[in-house]
Amino acid sequence: MGIIDQLLSPPGAQQLKLGLYLIYFMLLFLLPYMGVLLVTVGLSVTLRKGYPELARSFVQLGFLRPAMLVIFGLVPLLTLAFLLAQFLFGAGLPMGDYMERITVLLAGALLLLYAYGRTEIQAVGAAGVALLGLSLFCLVSVLDLVYHPGMWQFIDGPLPWLFSWTVVAHFALYIAAGHFLAGVAITFLYFYWPEKRVEQGSAEARPLRFWGLGLTLGGAMALPPLLLWSLVLSHSSALTFLAIGAGMAAVGILFMVAVLVVGMLFRGDSRHALAVLVFGLAVMALLLVSHQQLQLAANREHAVVLAMEAQKVRSAAELEQQLLYVTAEPDPALGKKLFDERCVSCHAWDKQVVGPAYLEVLPKYVSDPEALHAFIRNPVKINPNLPVMPNQGLSEREVLSVSAYLLQELPIIQEGANE
Ligand code: HEC
Repeated sequence: MGIIDQLLSPPGAQQLKLGLYLIYFMLLFLLPYMGVLLVTVGLSVTLRKGYPELARSFVQLGFLRPAMLVIFGLVPLLTLAFLLAQFLFGAGLPMGDYMERITVLLAGALLLLYAYGRTEIQAVGAAGVALLGLSLFCLVSVLDLVYHPGMWQFIDGPLPWLFSWTVVAHFALYIAAGHFLAGVAITFLYFYWPEKRVEQGSAEARPLRFWGLGLTLGGAMALPPLLLWSLVLSHSSALTFLAIGAGMAAVGILFMVAVLVVGMLFRGDSRHALAVLVFGLAVMALLLVSHQQLQLAANREHAVVLAMEAQKVRSAAELEQQLLYVTAEPDPALGKKLFDERCVSCHAWDKQVVGPAYLEVLPKYVSDPEALHAFIRNPVKINPNLPVMPNQGLSEREVLSVSAYLLQELPIIQEGANE
């Protein structure tokens, strides 16, 4: 653990904005897929004993394929881990740790679910669903953390801020959205998608239509009150026009979806499967926009803190650069370090190694240190019997320092050699 935190540096203001959009992009991949997976496999596990055929249909929707699990599950989650940790840089939160733990939980859950898809063992599926639910709850609570800068300094412990009403409200909203989307997916895949389509009047079709439309309708009715609840719980300053507007637009579309679904339930057909899918995706996008507005408002202050942090690092780097190149004061201690690290591999004082013995070549520079600087800065061919010395790529300060060290040592070594 702590791997992610080691890789971070404070983001600048521009990067922050980009980071936020990337976070939303990843959430758009991860959240709907995870929600649908949770609900469809959950149903499959529940119905396994009484309705094995139906249980299999829910797994065969195609959400349990290894490629899907990796592309829509693990990859966005890991990306999100980096983005969130980067976003909260300097907040004093062990965000990287949290996300690493959640990733481990989620990977375990996906493995169990995959095993369930293969073996159809109920207990394995139930364990997978429970673990997935837990990791999603933790994820929601981590995401919530991002919205509440005021809480950051109080957060401590192996997992963040579990069980607050805001987290519960958001998780409920998310689970309702999962049911809604699962219904939309079942309806669309089994009654529209050519490859999976079932015969309209067949025995298989009846329960699938019932579940697909039922989940869609249930989700569409549960989402508005839950959305309202989570808006009520959010910080009043975060309730911008766009946040509320996007939420209201989502409620409007949900109403249309409900009307379409009731029509299909009454007629016993599924003619609006495609429209329901399109509307369903629009609702998800609107919910995320509303969510993003809340976050932008909540993190305004942190953005300023981060910009300052980034500025600090930049100034420190500039200072370092000045020390290296502008105020090139020789530092014999640095010279000794360079000498020990770089020069001794080719040079000795009293004998030729790759390069000539210093006792032979240095005396001519005592009266002209500038020539020594020039040589070390940019070695030229001198002794025809020796190879050219490779350029050591030293900074000006390093050149002056190592020269100062050499010329300071020379008389001492000479004395030692004469005795
Ligand atoms: C990869 C081997 C190598 C390294 C590392 C190396 N040198 Fe040299 N150095 C040489 C060779 C070869 C010569 C002889 C070049 C010639 O005579 O053309 C030489 C020559 C010199 C000379 C003598 C120049 C003259 O007037 O004859 C000095 C001074 C010198 N090196 C300093 C240094 C210092 C200081 C360092 C470390 C920062 C260093 N060298 C690192 C290979 C090396």
